[in-house]
Parts: sequence; C-alpha cells; structure tokens
Amino acid sequence: MPDLVAVEEERELSSWELAKLELNWGRGDPVNIGWNLSDRICRQGLGQTKALIWEGFGGQERVFTYEDLRVLSNTMAAFLARQGIAPGERVCLFMDRIPELYIGFLGILKLGAVAQPLFSAFGEESLATRLLDAGTSAILTQKKYLPRIRRIRAELPALRHVIVADAEASALQQGETPLHLDSEPRVEDFPVYPAGPETPSVLHYTSGTTGQPKGAQHVHRSLLSQYLTARRVLDLQPGDIYWCNADPGWVTGTSYGIIGPWSAGVTQVVLDAGFNVDRWYSFIEKHRVTVWYSAPTAIRLLMKEGKTPAARHDLSSLRHLASVGEPLNPEAVHWSREVFGRPFHDTYWQTETGCIVITNLPGMPIKAGSMGKPFPGITAAILDMRTFEPVALPGRVGLIGLAPGWPSMIVGYRNNPEGYAKKFASGWYLTGDRGTVDADGYYWFVGRDDDVINTGGHLVGPFEVESALLEHPAVAESAAVAKPDPVNMEVVKAFVTLKPGYEASSDLELEIMNFVRKKLSPIAMPQDISFVTSLPRTRSGKIMRRVLRAQEWGEPVGDLSTLMED
Ligand code: WTA
Repeated sequence: MPDLVAVEEERELSSWELAKLELNWGRGDPVNIGWNLSDRICRQGLGQTKALIWEGFGGQERVFTYEDLRVLSNTMAAFLARQGIAPGERVCLFMDRIPELYIGFLGILKLGAVAQPLFSAFGEESLATRLLDAGTSAILTQKKYLPRIRRIRAELPALRHVIVADAEASALQQGETPLHLDSEPRVEDFPVYPAGPETPSVLHYTSGTTGQPKGAQHVHRSLLSQYLTARRVLDLQPGDIYWCNADPGWVTGTSYGIIGPWSAGVTQVVLDAGFNVDRWYSFIEKHRVTVWYSAPTAIRLLMKEGKTPAARHDLSSLRHLASVGEPLNPEAVHWSREVFGRPFHDTYWQTETGCIVITNLPGMPIKAGSMGKPFPGITAAILDMRTFEPVALPGRVGLIGLAPGWPSMIVGYRNNPEGYAKKFASGWYLTGDRGTVDADGYYWFVGRDDDVINTGGHLVGPFEVESALLEHPAVAESAAVAKPDPVNMEVVKAFVTLKPGYEASSDLELEIMNFVRKKLSPIAMPQDISFVTSLPRTRSGKIMRRVLRAQEWGEPVGDLSTLMED
C-alpha cells in the first residue's frame, strides 16, 4: 500500500522544501555545493557520465567525467589547503573558460573558501578595485594575465598567493606558484568543509549607479534554488547535453554554468571561444546539444546572419531554449520558432537573486516580449514608485519587487551594509527594475530604475567609467550613460569636458577610449565620446545623467526645474 498520508503531506510542501528532499538535506548529507556537484552525483551511480566536454579556441577537446570532477576538485582543494588557504578566505578565479576554472571553483568550495570569479577581460583597475574590497588571499590565473596582476600586486596587501595554471616555475616570480593539475597527486578523498546553509560560497561583484561595484555575497543554501530552477526552468534531465554561453565571471556562468547543471547531473559543453555563427551551430550539431541557455545579444547576432547558416546544420537535437540578461524582444522569440522550431524562453533574475525568479516555464503559453510569471516559491509584485505598495491595476508601471527569503538570495553586499539596506522597502526586496504585470499575471520589463548600463547583458556602473575617465590627463569632468545599440541593446557613451590646453579631436577620442578599455574592460569602454563645454547639473552640483540619457534615446527630458532639485 502506498503511504497516502506522506503523499498528501508532500503536496503541502513548498518548492524549496521539495528541493531539500531531493537533495536529501537534513538527513545527514553535506550541504557543501562542491560535494553536491561531484560526490553526490557519483554516489547516484553517474560517476562515468561526462560532466564536462570542453572545446578550446583552437578546437582542442578535453573530457571529464563526474568521477574526474570529484577527484580533481579534491586535488584542487588539497593543493589550496597546502598553500595555507583557510575556510572563509576569498580565492579569485581570473582566467578564461578553461577546465581549471570549473574544477578550481569546486575545489575552493570543498575547502570552505569563497570563490570570487572575475571576468578575464577586466583591466587592472577593475581587477584591483574588486580584489581590494574582497581582501582576496589568492588568485588562480593564467600566464597571459600575470602582467596585469604584477602591476597591481603592491596595492593588494591581503593577496598572498598568485597561482598560475599554465606556467613553469622558471617563468614565475617570487610569490607566484605553478599549478599543474594533471601532475598533482590525485586525492581520492578530501575532508569536505562542513558548510552550513549560511556559509559563504561565491562572491560576485555587480555594478550600481553610485560608488564602486558591490560584492554580492552568496551562501551554500543557494543550491536549493539553483538546483530546482535548473531542473524546472531549464528543464535539465538525465542525459541532457547542456550549453550555457555565459562566462563564470558573471553570475549566469556560475549559477547556471556550474552549479545548476552539475547539481542535476547533466553533461555540460563549454566553448572557450567568442561568437561566430558557424562555429556555434557546428558546436551544437557536433555535441548534439539538447538544452541551450543564451542571451538576447547573442540571439540578435544570430538573427543578423539570417536563416541560411542555421539551415546548413542539423540542429534537431535542441529540445529547450532559454535566454537571460536583457529584454528578449518578441522578434527573437518568433525568429527562434521559425529557425529552431521552438521559442526562446525568457528568464529574469539578477546577481542578487542568485536564481531565476520570473520566467516562462517549459510548456507555459508564451506571450512574446513578456518575462513570464514568478517561479513557484517566489512572490513578486509591481510596487508603486512612492509608497512601495503593490499597484492595484494591471498594466501600471512600477518597481519590480520580490518578497525576501528565497534560498539563493544574497546575504548582503560586502563592506556595504547601507547599500544593502537600501534594497528593501515596505518589506519588499527592490530589484531596481521597472515593469508591469498584466491581468493574466505575466510580467513585462520596462527598464532599469537607475543609471546602470546593460551592454550585451553585462552591467556597467557609470561611476566606475567616470572615475576611469577622470584619470585621463585631458579630462576635467565626465558622465557615462547608455546609448541605444542595435545588437548590444545599450553601449556606453561618455560626455566629457576637457581641461584647459586640450582640444577635442578624433585622435583624443580614440586615446581616451583605449585608456578606459585598458583600465576597465572592452565592455566598459565608451563606444562614443562627446566633447562638451559643460554638463547638466542639479542645484547642488550633481551631474544629471538622466538628461543626457534621455537625449540619447530621444525621450522627453521632463521638467528641468524639478530635475535640478536633488
Ligand atoms: C537585467 C544577470 C530584462 C535586469 C542574471 C536585471 C533582464 C539585470 C532580464 C541583472 C530579462 C536580467 N529581461 N532584463 N529577462 N534578465 N535583466 O545582475 O536589469 O548581471 O536587474 O544578472 O539584468 O543583471 P545581473
């Protein structure tokens, strides 16, 4: 006889409680994410299943089973422990999407340390700001990034170790350690750190309107949401071949490029190379990719190439498509239906939420252009801009708010409790985005409620760009705003006033662009610089980016006299 009472009770469980049951939490199994992504999967009998199929820029391939992942992440954890890295310390991953990045991530977590992934295209200043704020103890990197690290190392007193994955000891300086994972003694058993749900796991830096980037602190409990949404939203099932385009320097590349898929025991394919339409389609065809998590900018790039390239490849393995990072325009949904025979499913979330919070679940009727509905277990609302109470009428624009308390919500911004406190009002977590909800409960994205620039799905903080601009000898004042772009949706545009003695010219424009690119990154580099004689300011002297932005977008500027109040 089936136990009917137990079945009845299960129906009452929230989705997060179901995830706990599926992960066997509270019954003696470790909470540690590193253990859950490797040892647990091996224990389920999937040790010989491929965990990672990696393809490098030059077409070289490496394959790792879950058993390899388990042993190599142990080996990595033991190596870090031998260097004297203790639980709780921050270890930065600053490298391309090579296998050591993924294995390193698990090793850091198994040791109980905090993984701090940073985008490898970051220049010295972006890197230094984030390492300094995090008090990072060690950085795991590649030979080609050493010059950047060497130039800033003196500013980073907490940085004890620079570990290099692809260099011989002879090429290194004092304080730099080579790591050759293949020749390290394999560690079959490692005493995985007994992380609790609240133990810090991953530290991601994200940009805001004001000040330097904020360190969003994730904890091991996040696994519950990442596991469940990987299963239910991305529809990951045993046997799937999954491809996530995102770099783990950004949250999509960790939540759904490492944690979600490996907690579900599927095979991940990683292509460590930039966009190229034929390369991408060949990659899908070759590996028989079944689930693809991409981004609107990538889809727009594919659309630009037309339908013919897709017709040259057999893409029939694709079963489910999802997208994140920017508004997914209706044309992209229609186009993907035509070309791939199935629509992209929009998913909405943030570094701070850790997991997808609003989405089109598989099988749900899609309204093209809408983000979908809150994931079961998430309570969302459109809040009045002034009172922060849910708006009564469908279609009214307000702030997208979430009821706090889902498992993967961050626990704070590092060294910035005031910044974190500002994210809450009237009991709601404020996403900083504006949207509407329709009578059927579908959410529609309207825009950001701040000055952060979203370029190709990557957030860029205007303050960081302006600070870099001000370091150029010719620049007196600066403002960075979003400018519309057909592919990246937004790109950075800078307004600059020059110091006496400097003349505006296209050479100077190029020089300043390159200056920012080197200090920050190619994504933060202004694509356009306008030399002006003055910048619009509030009565107290704050630069009004909103006025400049409205001009770029051809939107009404609004009542300047009220805007000028602070
Ligand atoms: C934006 C990325 C429209 C939004 C996972 C959000 C989106 C910010 C969508 C978070 C979407 C993300 N439609 N906008 N489906 N998904 N965004 O922290 O402004 O890098 O607040 O996390 O990207 O960016 P973040």
